[in-house]
This record gives sequence, C-alpha cells and structure tokens, in this order.
Amino acid sequence: MEKSEIGLVGLGTMGAMLSLNIAEKGFAISVYNRTGAKTDAFMAGAGDLENKITPTKTLEELVASIASPRTIILMVQAGSAVDDQIAALRPLLNKEDLIIDAGNANFRDTNARASAAMEAGVPFLGIGVSGGEEGARHGPSIMGGGQRSAWDRVSHILEAISAKHGETACATWMGESGSGHFVKAVHNGIEYADMQMIAEVYGVMRDGFNQSAKEIADVFDGWNQGVLQSYLIEISGAVAKADDPTSGKPVLDIILDRAGQKGTGRWTVVEAQHLGAPIPVIEAAVSARNISSQLNERQQGESLFGAAPTSLNEGDISPQDLESALIAGKIMCYAQGFALLNSASEAFDWSLPLPAVAEVWREGCIIRSAMLNDMATALGTDPSRNLMFAPFFADLMKKHEAGLRKMVSVSLANGLPVPALASALTYFDMMRTSRSTANMIQAQRDFFGAHSFERIDSAGSHHGHWDPTA
Ligand code: 6PG
Repeated sequence: MEKSEIGLVGLGTMGAMLSLNIAEKGFAISVYNRTGAKTDAFMAGAGDLENKITPTKTLEELVASIASPRTIILMVQAGSAVDDQIAALRPLLNKEDLIIDAGNANFRDTNARASAAMEAGVPFLGIGVSGGEEGARHGPSIMGGGQRSAWDRVSHILEAISAKHGETACATWMGESGSGHFVKAVHNGIEYADMQMIAEVYGVMRDGFNQSAKEIADVFDGWNQGVLQSYLIEISGAVAKADDPTSGKPVLDIILDRAGQKGTGRWTVVEAQHLGAPIPVIEAAVSARNISSQLNERQQGESLFGAAPTSLNEGDISPQDLESALIAGKIMCYAQGFALLNSASEAFDWSLPLPAVAEVWREGCIIRSAMLNDMATALGTDPSRNLMFAPFFADLMKKHEAGLRKMVSVSLANGLPVPALASALTYFDMMRTSRSTANMIQAQRDFFGAHSFERIDSAGSHHGHWDPTA
C-alpha cells in the first residue's frame, strides 16, 4: 500500500477536522488516536475522503504507514500529554522525522521541547492553529515556530490547508522555538479583549437602553458592513439573533453570565508582565472573565449594594458613539498586542515579522477582521512604531476618540462596567500625555528607598533632600 505523506495523532474535534482538511487538499494522511473506537468513528464519518486516510491502531502501525522522512502532527491536549506522546513516538522514529505540536501549547513548553529536539538533533515545530472547528476543517490561520528547515519541509502542506487572503496563504513561519505559540497566545489575548469590548457595548445596549437581543443583532449586523467588519462582530450578531428552541426566548437571554477559559489569555498577560510590556486592555478582559466566574459574590454584591442605576436616557450615548468606542478600543488593543510582540521579539531574539503576523490573522482565525489588512500595511511601513502613531490609525483615533470617551464616561457615571474600553481610553490618554504623574512615584521611591530620580533640568541621577520628620 502507498505510504502516507503525513500522520496525525489525536482525533479530537480539532485533530479530526484538520485531518479531513489535509485529506481534502490531496495529501494522503495516516491517523491515530489513543482510543481506537474514536478512529473507527472518525473513519465512518470521513465520506469521500476515506481513500486518502489510513486509520492506524498502534503508534508502530502509524509510523510504518508514513513515507520517510516522516512528518507527524500532534493534536493532543496541551501540557504533559504532548510530552508523553513525543516520548512514545521518538523511539519509533528516525532522526530526520519531524514532530509538529499543533495544539494550544504554552510557548515556554514549546521552547523546552524545541531545545530538547535540538540537542537530540531531531526536527520539531510548534505551530499555533486558530479558527476553531470550522477553521481547522476549511482553512485555519497557522503561526509556525521552530527550525526554519523543518518548516520549509512541510510549508506546502500547511499553506495548502490554511485560510487564504486573496491568493496569500495564512500560514507563516514566525521564527525559532516557541515563537509560533507565542504569537498564538497573543492572538488569544486579543481575542479575549475583542470579545470583552463587544460584550461591554452589548451591555450598554441591553442594560442602558433596554434593547432586545434582536435589536442588538441588527446593530452588530450594521457594524459588520463598516470599519468593524470582523468574524467576532459577525458571530455576535448571529448569536444575538438566535432563539432557544426550549424556551422560545433569545438564546443570549438564557445563557448564564459566567465565562470559562482554558487560560491562553492569561498566559499572554503573565508574559506581558514578565516583559514589562503594557497590555491593559487585554489584562482588563482577562480580569473581566475572572470576575464573571465569581457569580456567587456578584449576587451577594447586588443584594448588599443594590444593582447599579443603569438606565440611560435616549441620546446619552448614540449608536455612533458605541461604534466609535469599539473602533478606538480595538486600535488601542491591537497597538498593545503588537507592541508586546515587539518586546518579545527583542527579548527572545526572534525577529518576529510583525506585518506578516497581521497578514496571517487576516483570514481563518478568530480575530480575523478588515482592520488587520490596514494594520499589516501600517506595520509594513514601520514594524516597531506603536500602531496608534501610524497615520492611518492616528486619523481613526482622532475621529473616534470622542465617541469612546462619551461611551466610557456615561457608562461609568451610570454604573455600567466597561473595563476593557475604559482601559483603552486610559491607555490613549496616558500615551498622549508627555508630562505624566510618575514624577510623584519617583519622589516617593527616592524618599523611602533612596532609589534616585532624574531631573527635568539636568542629566544624571539625583537624590532629594527629604525631611523624614516633616
Ligand atoms: C482559536 C481559539 C481557540 C480556542 C480557545 C479559546 O484561535 O481558534 O482561540 O484556540 O477557542 O481555546 O480559549 P478559551 O477557552 O481560553 O476562551
């Protein structure tokens, strides 16, 4: 029997969809799952693609069915399962056989796996795959990391299965070791923030203006025709429109307001803190998810303090203000995300191709949007400049800042929580303030710890003549 071009381990939703995608693009693939029943069920549902797929029941069988030098994609749960799988596979493989971890790995784990592979002289890639089930099946966005030579060996397959922006494949090598998974983590951090900002605007419409889910859906649909055109706005419109077959009510109205998370957004925040890179919009979004999960405390809070007086008067915030708030908030969030990538690139010596990151996110992934095309252009001109200073985005900020300010200030005055959008506005205000208040911080540090300060009128480091008894 003819050998497969590639193998895949792990037939969970993402692995199964990716396998079908690979087979559909014409590559013969061997698949393996720890529990054989899952492999049987997968094959039973493979339809016409069945003849491109070789099901295997042992790792030995899997390895034997793939042409050398082999490539095997792991789509298993991130964490120790990946290490276990690598440990089980490596003894069965030749030195030149390539293992690709395509799960949502923490980039630090990928760094460690890449170093171990390098020491052993075997190829290894860690790739971030975004787009959920649908993306995996029909075209995800792929962020590759690891040895360039290993990427070059499989890029024709990864490009073929990826989403396309026009003719351009959304599959790019980002750099060495864990860089692909780092870019994926930042993608997810931005995903959290985009989702949170949309939820905040939804909250103003629902609680401030008492709009129904259907009315809100129309607003999202309208925005999806303009600057905000994006997958997340589109699906927000779709979920707001949907009815619950059991109760007949809008589904949104019967969903508990407690959001889960697997933790990739949190990784982004933790790494940003390690790097000293400010990403307050993403931090606010991650915190908001954490607060959402404290349902009991929130209920206790409402009975103790009363619900915030949230009703707004017509015209307090216009629909245009809401749209502006999302546009300006989005720019601030992405400016922070790309600046974080810049910091990581320098700190880890990666040379991350920032315009290519924006390009690879244009299609296939969860944060895909029209604005990413403009971001790719702006970053192409100057990748290390904060996006808010790129003329195109500076003009957008000038146009939409007032709407963001109105939306945030009226919401806060009326007890409507808008943490991510408020963070975006505060970041904007801080970033356009040349004389901040950190002179006070420096004075305090020097007072209690003799940490010294710089003066505005002469160079060098100075101490104050503080009077501790005053
Ligand atoms: C993607 C998504 C995907 C996934 C995350 C969501 O890019 O396709 O980001 O990776 O949906 O698991 O993460 P949370 O469970 O943390 O919300």
